[in-house]
Amino acid sequence: MITTVPDVRELLEEAAAVASGARDGGPRPLTGGPLQVGVDLGTASCVLVVLDAGRPVWVGAHPSGALRDGVVVDFAEARATVTRLREAAEAALGVELVSAATAYPPCIPVADARACTFVCEGAGFAEVALVDEVSAAHAALGITDGAVVDVGGGSTGVGVFRDGVLTRLDDRPGGGHHLDLVLAGALGIPVEEAEPYKRTHPRESLPILVPGLQKIAENVRDLTRGDEDLPLHLAGGALMVPGADDVLASYLERTVVTYPHALLITPLGIARCAP
Ligand SMILES: Nc1ncnc2c1ncn2[C@@H]1O[C@H](COP(=O)(O)OP(=O)(O)OP(=O)(O)O)[C@@H](O)[C@H]1O
Ligand SMILES: [Mg+2]
Repeated sequence: MITTVPDVRELLEEAAAVASGARDGGPRPLTGGPLQVGVDLGTASCVLVVLDAGRPVWVGAHPSGALRDGVVVDFAEARATVTRLREAAEAALGVELVSAATAYPPCIPVADARACTFVCEGAGFAEVALVDEVSAAHAALGITDGAVVDVGGGSTGVGVFRDGVLTRLDDRPGGGHHLDLVLAGALGIPVEEAEPYKRTHPRESLPILVPGLQKIAENVRDLTRGDEDLPLHLAGGALMVPGADDVLASYLERTVVTYPHALLITPLGIARCAP
């Protein structure tokens, strides 16, 4: 059953405040009910979210290097990162976290998807649920009719939902890393410098990034052919460049819905899918 979530923006603001430690007085006191843990093994960063009665009480993130195109390429590194995030959450909340959900990019081989489960089991979670990333993002957004577009560090996943049911799911290479490559090439700087530059100089970066954003838009067009009547709901960090939403909306001539702290949508949704 699909639940409509009217306050997803509020939850994202809350998650961002928890992530940055901006919440006064540290983590909110726990309600004593069951906790849900989500582990997003992203290409750019690994994010662990803990929900208490559906509200974020802990969000930890660590740069990832153990995944490429959503696939675990360094198992030991990924396990060490998740272990570190789990231990930090446990220490902060004063509880043991025994179960979690994790997610895989749509359309990867079953064995690669299972690797995400094994990483979390190796990191100390006894029970691990597995969902695809786009369904996880949908679990956060709770939209009935629309396309969920998750543009992360390495790939663009698109899920089409009608009457709350997933009717189509696919994935293409192309994300924030590709935008960094465009920026690095145009400015003649190393790609490692392009990444922070993109965040600190969004106004200067946007015009340079337009062709890269249009390439992402072309992928979205392909992955939603025949579903042009539906709005596009943007998740993932890559489209957090201010103005990127307008580039997509005008290039595709479609309604685009944005959310604050879009890179937390999928981690939040994964936690919602947890046992
Ligand atoms: N404020 C921002 N402005 C511009 N880009 C941003 C911002 N914050 C994050 N990004 C970009 O978002 C990308 C990471 O997004 P996200 O965390 O959704 O990816 P991921 O889940 O790790 O990757 P994937 O889903 O492809 O495995 C990075 O490429 C980063 O450059
Ligand atoms: Mg992601």
